[in-house]
Amino acid sequence: MRYKRIEELVQELKEKNDVLTLGGGKKAIEKQHQSGKRTARERIEMFLDSGSFEEVDLFVEHRAERFGMKEKAVPADGVVTGFGTVDGRAVFVYSQDFTVMGGSLGEMHAKKICKIMDMALKVGAPIIGINDSGGARIQEGIDSLSGYGQIFWRNTQASGVIPQIAVIAGPCAGGAVYSPALMDFIFMVEGMSKMFVTGPQVVKAATGEEVSAEELGGAATHATRSGVAHFTARNEEECFADLRRLLTYLPSNNAEEPPFVESGDPMDRENRALLEIVSPNPNKPYDMKKVIQEIVDQGSFFEVQKDFARNIIVGFARMGGHVVGVVANQPYHLAGCLDIDSADKASRFIRFCDCFGIPLLTLVDVPGFLPGTNQEFGGIIRHGAKMLYAYSEATVPKITVIVRKAYGGAYLAMCSRDLGADLVLAWPTAEIAVMGAEGAVAIIFRQELEKALDPEVEREKLIDQYRREFYNPYQAAKRGYVDQVIDPVVTRLKVVRALEVFWSKREGRRGKKHGNFPV
Ligand code: HXC
Repeated sequence: MRYKRIEELVQELKEKNDVLTLGGGKKAIEKQHQSGKRTARERIEMFLDSGSFEEVDLFVEHRAERFGMKEKAVPADGVVTGFGTVDGRAVFVYSQDFTVMGGSLGEMHAKKICKIMDMALKVGAPIIGINDSGGARIQEGIDSLSGYGQIFWRNTQASGVIPQIAVIAGPCAGGAVYSPALMDFIFMVEGMSKMFVTGPQVVKAATGEEVSAEELGGAATHATRSGVAHFTARNEEECFADLRRLLTYLPSNNAEEPPFVESGDPMDRENRALLEIVSPNPNKPYDMKKVIQEIVDQGSFFEVQKDFARNIIVGFARMGGHVVGVVANQPYHLAGCLDIDSADKASRFIRFCDCFGIPLLTLVDVPGFLPGTNQEFGGIIRHGAKMLYAYSEATVPKITVIVRKAYGGAYLAMCSRDLGADLVLAWPTAEIAVMGAEGAVAIIFRQELEKALDPEVEREKLIDQYRREFYNPYQAAKRGYVDQVIDPVVTRLKVVRALEVFWSKREGRRGKKHGNFPV
């Protein structure tokens, strides 16, 4: 037998590579481009540092036989998997190839994803899943379902150990939506991404409702109504740029510290602008985002879920170069009340930060929980409990700044001293009370008001008296619930100093299998 020369073998390898990396072929790629989408490989190229991608399992083949599959070539089994770097840091990635059987997931497709997830977990590096798929490969039946199950299991094992991020860059339907849902963050692209458990036809057949795919599961729906998406972008370029930015705030795993980036913004920069932004009149709303932007390292605030439950703001920022997770009430929406969606949004973010050692900065201006049958019937009790649980459970440094209102249960829920805040700062404008003055007076002075000659005049007098007594930070400071009452101008300095000191905080918890988080 003649052995081929090594050059010939390398040439053969090149030819095989060329065929396989073409995925579904030129026509299918053209179709993908015509529908405004990049291919699986173009997306990886766009996302990773240039030239850093190392592909794994290019030669994997399916072993299905029925429905004509025996003769069917499915290049790379419809998913491109491998590793590379983002800003020099390792990440693992899979990208479903819609040009190959619609990116549908069969047995080997799932095995490739599982392999790359196992590698990511062993290495301690983030896993990024780019989803563009018709769902379970129908020809492979139960093996496809099993594949999804194996991915879900791994998503759960990896949760809290490595960051897991999903990009939805096409359809993602049926049970397929649950892998992204088990991950930490979901990115969607306007007009391109669709996520739903049952599509428009099934919805129509089951309920009679007529709804377009876009309305049912497009980026805007999930960014504003369902809260499923954490980030949306106008196009793929923007989406991957945002994803790269997100990674700059995250450690590669739960044993690593989040990346420190010197910002050049002096830690003692005074915050005079805050005196203009926040009015001492508690009925005057203001934009809490301006407060955040003023305090944190300039230009470092990166908001998460910005269009969902806008009465609370969550996002990453840097202070003195250290990453912090910011949670803040937004008086511009629902007066900053806590409700079902905001409690959900904040709790998930708090838990993410705690998993990955990111300190929490909480800015408080909250009049209470939102009243109403909608909220009560919707289960505000169990949803609100998530915030209490998440803050109490978190052992990362927790710094709280009470800006203005901090009433009742909502005061407690916004990382109060009693839920384990390490340092509580309050501005002189802070009002820490069981409830608002009007409600309090109506209850505690009911009899006096009934007997009064002029109940209205008496009510005003009592409200005034209550305000003077309780609408300030000093009652709380007298009892040590507030550690410092500070001039707003030095908020940045105080918080940066606190973060630098509490950085080394270590707090243990009772050993247990896991708690029973309220859901
Ligand atoms: C096998 C599939 C497929 C699938 C698409 N294809 N989905 N093959 N299994 N699930 C194939 C098509 O046959 C076609 O092959 C090619 O991919 C491109 O699909 P098109 O229909 O031409 O593309 P488009 O018009 O853009 O429509 C995309 C689509 C549609 C909306 C995703 O393909 C579709 O509705 N697919 C079926 C979706 C579905 O019902 N999936 C199963 C869901 S159940 P050719 O050879 O013609 O190019 C599920 C359960 C998961 O996923 C449970 C997990 C626990």
